[in-house]
Amino acid sequence: MPPQKLEIFKSLEGWAEDNLLVHLKPVEKYMITEEALPTYQTMLNTLDGVRDETGASLTSWAIWTRAWTAEENRHGDLLNKYLYLSGRVDMKQIEKTIQYLIGSGMDPKTENNPYLGFIYTSFQERATFISHGNTARLAKEHGDMKLAQICGIIAADEKRHETAYTKIVEKLFEIDPDGTVLALADMMRKKISMPAHLMFDGQDDNLFDNYSSVAQRIGVYTAKDYADILEFLVGRWKVETLTGLSGEGNRAQEFVCGLPARIRRLEERAAGSAKQPSSPVPFSWIFGRELVL
Ligand SMILES: [Fe+2]
Ligand SMILES: [Fe+2]
Repeated sequence: MPPQKLEIFKSLEGWAEDNLLVHLKPVEKYMITEEALPTYQTMLNTLDGVRDETGASLTSWAIWTRAWTAEENRHGDLLNKYLYLSGRVDMKQIEKTIQYLIGSGMDPKTENNPYLGFIYTSFQERATFISHGNTARLAKEHGDMKLAQICGIIAADEKRHETAYTKIVEKLFEIDPDGTVLALADMMRKKISMPAHLMFDGQDDNLFDNYSSVAQRIGVYTAKDYADILEFLVGRWKVETLTGLSGEGNRAQEFVCGLPARIRRLEERAAGSAKQPSSPVPFSWIFGRELVL
């Protein structure tokens, strides 16, 4: 990143203390908690100007990253314990998948750029808020009140994370509207990849796509949600009403504001074209039981 942009993050240090750290949950208030946290913490620490330089740095950015990681870690722990105690899944296969996942890492294409990084995390936090909320609803419908409660608590945490990350990007829009709208368009052209897109269980080479298909079919996370999230963020950051942009900035603004409708049209067309029914696929996490995608 150019030095003058790095200065922006240095100058926002005090702002981050007052506006970002307030969205962390006091540790003693809960004992709750996703997997592959080393990967996500690494991702935040690739970002120029906000990375944790020492591993225990006292900048607000670094304090946030470590405490956020701790909160996400509880999500992973809690869900893992729930699955273990349920006795209904093959824990060995789940643990294997986590080993492979952490081993593979991920590249969200944020290029060490905190503009791209915080746009990515804003999108992801809202995606997890929506998907955990949908899982809570489905669990309740199927009579598992404990799982519904667990997913409800996690969804509330994700909402808080969304608030924090979208606030950072809101501030960037205020200070550097042109740079930020360009970053938003850049990130959306690359598409927001899911953190677990490199997951593998040692058996299924299409594991992530197969899980995504099931999530889409049962309504946990769908292509419509992707368009909805983008539309929400464009509204949240008031992208449509930005003024004084450069020519390039104006084109980026037009692109992102029109994108949700474009994604929906593509989806409708894809849904309209008759899909070949696929044969059921076995899932190792549930002892090879076959599910329709
Ligand atoms: Fe989480
Ligand atoms: Fe989160």
